Parts: sequence; C-alpha cells; structure tokens
Amino acid sequence: MSTGTVLAVAIPVIVVLGAVVAFVSLRRRDATGLGYLSRETRRRDEQVTASAEAGDAAGAFGVSAQARDLERSVALERRPAPVAVAAPEMPQDWAPPPASQVGVTRRQFLNRSSVMLMATGLGTFNAAMIAFLWPRPTGGFGSKVKIGTVASVDEAIASSTPAVNFSYFSEAQSYIQPYPTDSATLDAAEAVYSGTVLDAMKAGYVALWQKCPHLGCKVPVCGSSQWFECPCHGSKYNRVGEKKSGPAPRGMDRFAVTIEEGNVFVNTGTVAQGPAIGTDTTGQGLEGPHCG
Ligand code: FES
Repeated sequence: MSTGTVLAVAIPVIVVLGAVVAFVSLRRRDATGLGYLSRETRRRDEQVTASAEAGDAAGAFGVSAQARDLERSVALERRPAPVAVAAPEMPQDWAPPPASQVGVTRRQFLNRSSVMLMATGLGTFNAAMIAFLWPRPTGGFGSKVKIGTVASVDEAIASSTPAVNFSYFSEAQSYIQPYPTDSATLDAAEAVYSGTVLDAMKAGYVALWQKCPHLGCKVPVCGSSQWFECPCHGSKYNRVGEKKSGPAPRGMDRFAVTIEEGNVFVNTGTVAQGPAIGTDTTGQGLEGPHCG
C-alpha cells in the first residue's frame, strides 16, 4: 500500500479513537457528580468522607468546632438583652405600730376630744351666766346718767332758747327741755303725767328721748317751728314732746329727772311712754314754718 493510503486509513482511525477516549472520560466524571472540581476541593472532600466514616458530624459537614463556637457567640451577641423583672413582693401581715411611734392612740384622741368639748360647753354656759348676772353698767346710757350740775344744765337750757338745737345731752340721748312751772300748766300736767316724770316737770325739767315713738328715727328740732319734727314720716311734737301731728302713736317717750346734791341725773334705765294723742299741757303753738 502506498503511503497515501496508509495515512488515509490511519488518520480517521486516530480521530475516532481520540473521540472515543474523550467520550469515555466525560462519562466517568458525570457518573461521580463532582463536575470539574479543583484538586484542593477534592482533597477536602476526601477528608470529609474520612471524618464521616470516623463518626465526626462537624467534620462531615465541613464545619470546625472553632467556627461553630464563633457562630454561636455572634448569635448570642445579637440576641436582645433580657429585661430584668423584679420579683414580686409578698404581702405582709399588718401589725400595729409601737406606742412610741403613734404618740396618741385613737382612744386617747376621742377621750381628750370629749373632755375638750365638755369643757368648752361648760365654759360658754358659765360665761353666759356671768354676763347675765353681771351688774348693769353705771354712768352710761341705760342707767342713771349724770348730765351736769343744776347750774350748768340751766345754762344749757337758757342758751338754747330759742336756738335751732334744743339742749341736747348725748350721754343720755335726750333733750332736756324746760317745763313751765306756773300753776295752770302744772295743773294740766298733773292731769296727764305721774310719778317721777311729773316730779321732774314740777322741778322744771322734761327729759325727752331722741327716739321717735313711731319707728325709731332720731327726731331733730325744727328751728323755725320750734317743734320736734321727725324727718322719716313727718310726726311733729311740741317742745315738751306732746304729739301735734303725724303717724306716731303717742308723744315722745321720756325719762325721769332727779336732782341730787346739786346735780341733775337722767334715769335712762326706765322709759316712760309719751302722753296720748291730743295731750297739750303747755299750749305751745306753731312758731314758724315747718322744716319738712
Ligand atoms: S319714725 Fe318718726 S314719724 Fe315715723
């Protein structure tokens, strides 16, 4: 055979044999499932296989004990810190505090309060009794009031006639008016007045309380009419307090006047009611226009 013929037969045979070798090699690798692994990988796989056969699970999966500890420590660090919960306190049985700390017990407090209330009540009652039994004050309104000597009172009366203000004595809340002592006037007075009031009139004095017998207003003097004229409801009285007009039920109330050792006293502790409507013992008429 010629050289050309040998080459023509040999080359296809070589090519076919190469293809067969390559095909067989690839089939073997696929059968192992490893694909194209590096030498280092294959060596580690071999170690794993050896460890598995020796019973080491960690080694079988390729995880060393050091790596496992590291992984566990990282997981522990990421875990949230546990919240501290205080243990609940158990209830304790109540026990009364010692007497040294209490100071005053409830019984002591109630006892002392009762004693104090009783003492306060008794004290108030005693104070009221003492005030009731205490002698009435002397020298002020409501008692026998000295308004001056006879001379000073007469001077006050004389200087007030016919002044705008009649002789007024504030300590007795009274007007001290002169009373005519002629027999005709005294006879008329005896027909109306009595007692200490009449005695004072006989001595020439009439003590008229400033309080209107109607509703209690202070009755001033009207300088023009020379009468007492009440500004509240218009009651009018002559100079000795006998009612002339208005709603008042009677004449002006009055007090007893006494003269003792040259001094004039007005007994404001006893009020003598004024004379009845229509009484006119002096006959004093209107001396000028009314004030209101
Ligand atoms: S209070 Fe004087 S008239 Fe009424």
